Amino acid sequence: MRVVIGIGGGIAAYKAAMLLRLFGKAGHEVIAIPTQAALKFIGQPTLEALSSNPVSVDVFERVPEVNHVRQAEQADAVIIAPATADLMARLATGRANDLLSATVLTTHAPVILAPAMHTQMWEHPATQANVATLRSYGYRLIEPAVGRLTGPDSGVGRLPEPEEIYAQALAVLGWGREQGSCAETVSKPLAGQRLLITAGGTREALDPVRFLGNRSSGKQGVALAQVATDLGARVHLIGANLEVRPPSDLDKLTLVTSAEQMRRAVFDALSESDMVIMAAAVADFRPADYTDSKIKKTDDPLADPVIRLVRNPDILREIVLHRQNNPEGGPRTIVGFAAETGDDTATPLEYGQAKLTRKGCDYLAVNTVSPTLGFGADNNTVTLLPKDVGEHLVAQGTKEDVARALLLHIAQQTQQ
Ligand code: CTP
Repeated sequence: MRVVIGIGGGIAAYKAAMLLRLFGKAGHEVIAIPTQAALKFIGQPTLEALSSNPVSVDVFERVPEVNHVRQAEQADAVIIAPATADLMARLATGRANDLLSATVLTTHAPVILAPAMHTQMWEHPATQANVATLRSYGYRLIEPAVGRLTGPDSGVGRLPEPEEIYAQALAVLGWGREQGSCAETVSKPLAGQRLLITAGGTREALDPVRFLGNRSSGKQGVALAQVATDLGARVHLIGANLEVRPPSDLDKLTLVTSAEQMRRAVFDALSESDMVIMAAAVADFRPADYTDSKIKKTDDPLADPVIRLVRNPDILREIVLHRQNNPEGGPRTIVGFAAETGDDTATPLEYGQAKLTRKGCDYLAVNTVSPTLGFGADNNTVTLLPKDVGEHLVAQGTKEDVARALLLHIAQQTQQ
């Protein structure tokens, strides 16, 4: 395949050198197109040597070849890393004032952008509007990581490591199935791993027709199961009242209704799982009494039933305790999910941090619930908090995008 690597003018431009090498080593033809500003951070000879191709910056070089049209038409993919705020603004408005922007405007190949900039620039409404516009053109984004930025500060905006960009790009493009190539190992970072994933929302029966339930659709858990399978894992999905169709290429599917059934299914599978992801919304309480026949109204309103609740087991907490007692046998990685809202006392992330400590799992994926984000929605924003001090990741986009970003990040961190 022929891959155009566009390089914006930011300090992270040096990472593009490694990206060129990864694609080149996997047998792809690579063309580097830096912006003028990128050449202040990385030298043209470096890009020419690593790509084994000449490097041009503007449309007035190699004029007889109509270089931007040639590069655009011959490209199988255009990947821009780092995509700076200025470059994205130019691409969002359809500018064509250098070779890279002219190539992007001309190409029919998939375009993937890996933004990198300071947190303030990333969060500015202008940048976020440009990101939304670029997504509306069908361009795919690799979310910026959280971590050390240029200088002493840290936050969201860091360019993910080249291996992560490479793996995400291959997954987006559906490439990387070449046997024995570098692409095979990098695009299947979960190969050989057994994942146990719960999804959906439990229902706690009150009588034969009624239950206490929650709004979870199971979309995020099912997306995790699908993406984990695509990334090479063997996945056992435990689904509770799913509103979406589970993937067809799972290793195993177990359907349950209640928290107690989910707990049993999880513990039956625990010794055969390397990683557990509790994406299900498990009811904390169930009715204390279940009646075999439908509860009826009577003529006496004073006799209306009062439902007493008892606590359900905390499955996630029990998995963590099980691992503490069986250090050899328990799953190596335990991931919880939490849908949080903020209030006057704390932000959603502060509540998430406290929950991570309480539950004792390795990661907590905190999902901020709002009318458009979270339950039932197709898009999601999730912040992955690690138990140990380390980078946390903000993943945004469709639930598949979020699943891919979370799984790749966890795979990279746990396999280091
Ligand atoms: N969880 C679980 N068993 C329960 C409740 C929750 O395993 N009985 C898991 C969920 O699958 C999720 C994580 O714990 O991965 C956090 O769920 P959440 O409902 O946010 O946690 P709670 O401890 O119930 O906290 P809250 O009081 O905020 O609801």
